[in-house]
Formats: sequence, C-alpha cells, structure tokens
Amino acid sequence: MNFDQLKNVKVEIADGIGWVTLNRPDKRNAMSPDLHFEMVDVLKELAEEPAVRVLVLTGAGESWCAGQDIGLFFRALDDKPRQRHLARLANHEWRWTLLSSFPKPTIAMVNGHCYGGAFVQLFACDFAVAADEAQFGLSEVNWGILPGGLVGKVIVDGLAYRDAVYYAMTGEPFDGKAAAQMRLVTESVPLERLRARTVELASTLARKNPQTLRTIKESLRLVRGMSVDQAADYLLAKEREMRFMDNEGGREQAMTQFLDDKTYRPGYGEYQRGAQ
Ligand code: COA
Repeated sequence: MNFDQLKNVKVEIADGIGWVTLNRPDKRNAMSPDLHFEMVDVLKELAEEPAVRVLVLTGAGESWCAGQDIGLFFRALDDKPRQRHLARLANHEWRWTLLSSFPKPTIAMVNGHCYGGAFVQLFACDFAVAADEAQFGLSEVNWGILPGGLVGKVIVDGLAYRDAVYYAMTGEPFDGKAAAQMRLVTESVPLERLRARTVELASTLARKNPQTLRTIKESLRLVRGMSVDQAADYLLAKEREMRFMDNEGGREQAMTQFLDDKTYRPGYGEYQRGAQ
C-alpha cells in the first residue's frame, strides 16, 4: 500500500511504532466517509506489518478527533442510502472491529478535542494517553441525536454508570485530567510531554513478547462478556494456543532463567527474550 496517496490519514513508521494520524486538521479531524474508507485499508495493512510493534492513533493539529463529520457523514448521505450504508460499514469496521482486535498494542494519543463518535476509537484502543489540555465531550445531546454508533455502549461498559449518564445527558465538556480521574484514559500529562510519554509507553510494550501481548489483549477483552465457567475454559484454551503460537518460546525461556539459571526474578523485571 502506498501511504503517500492517502488524503485523510497520515502513516509513519519509526522505531517499531506505527503512527497513524487522522489528517483533516482544518476540520478538526472530523471523520468523513473517505477517512473511514482509508482507515479500513490502513489498519488492515499495518496489522501484520513486522516493522510495527505498537500502533499509536493521534490527530493532526489541535484536535484528536471532532467526531463524525456532520456535513459529510450525516447530512450529505441522508438521501443516499447506498453510500450511507457503505460509509457506516467502514466506520464500524475500523473504529471497532479492526482496532479493538488489532493484533498489537494500541495507544490513543489524545492531543486535543475528542468529541462524540471519537469515543468509540478511544475505547477500542488498549491505552489512552491524553494531554491535560485536551477537551472531551459527549456532545450528541446538543445536536438532537443519540450517542449512537456504539458510543452509548462503550461509555456504559467503560465508565462508571453515573459518569456515563451525566456526561451523555448534559453534554458538558471536560479536560484530560478529569478524563484520567474517571479512567476514560489511562493517564494525562501536560501537552508538551504527551509525545515523549507515549513513546516511553510504546517502547515498554515493544520490548515484550508480541504473542504474549496479543493473547493477553484478546483474552481480557473477551472474558468480560463471559460467565466464570466459560472464562475459565476459554483462558485455558488461550494459554495453550499461546504456547503453540509463540515461536520465541517465552514461557520456557522465563522458566529456565528463573528455575535453572537463577538469573531472573519476575518481581524485578523482564526475562531476557531470546537469551536461550
Ligand atoms: N463535523 C464537521 N465539521 C466540523 C466538525 C464536525 N464534527 N467539527 C469541526 N468542524 C469544522 C468546523 O465546521 C470548521 O469548519 P469551517 O472552517 O469550514 O467553518 C472547522 O472544523 C474548524 O472548527 P471550529 O469550530 O472553528 O474550531 P474550534 O477549534 O473553535 O472548535 C470544536 C473545535 C471541536 C470544539 C468545534 O469545532 C466543535 O464543537 N465541533 C463539533 C464537535 C462535535 O460535536 N462532534 C460530535 C459530532 S456527533
């Protein structure tokens, strides 16, 4: 795929990090149908790209993402059912299906405004690091619309119910510090430290065994919807799958270093990958 031909998204790969930037800064990175189509292609391309060990999703300019493009995604498609259907499929596919099941760790680096529909990709990412100065808002109520397109679902699943109801029904904006306090994001830092902190977190993740990370994220996401018995059985099966799929033999390496070589204690850090 030729990333240079993308008009609404920018992709850069450096030091194991795939930087994916929503790139409509003049429109505060509001999501148009074309942006959705491009993001589907980008995420499919990067999923098995070996140079990408961690994916960071961010926005160009002052905004992370101002939600759906009110003109291009809603009004312009009101009387075009076929295009509306295709745009909705792509919108769901990248923001939820592809992103939440992305086979590597994902970090939302929230540099600015995060409104409405942007909450879906925010929750689909494994981590979110926000600028203290970023502004968040469930503004749908002020548009006379529902927090739909999965927003209503991700907020009640991911936030305390009282917070979800309060912000969905008042539309009141809040900053990155408040977002961190209510655990909407993993942490918030001053804007000037945002990129450095994101790189630090990405580098920590990039050092870990990729198959182990992949299995952990898949398991944690799915067990939430399971009964205890289903989860116990599923986790056992996942554990076995991981041992089968891990071509580094991480479990064996760690055990050898701990039990035989006495060179490693998990309480103090990481086992030496590839040291056997
Ligand atoms: N859809 C379409 N266009 C949008 C947009 C959206 N969701 N958000 C911003 N834009 C456009 C504006 O219309 C404006 O376009 P113009 O230059 O052609 O007039 C441009 O982006 C800049 O927006 P502006 O409002 O001037 O920037 P700002 O920095 O003062 O404010 C926001 C930024 C995000 C706070 C403000 O644009 C806003 O409230 N946007 C709507 C956010 C929202 O409710 N999204 C949820 C939709 S369900």
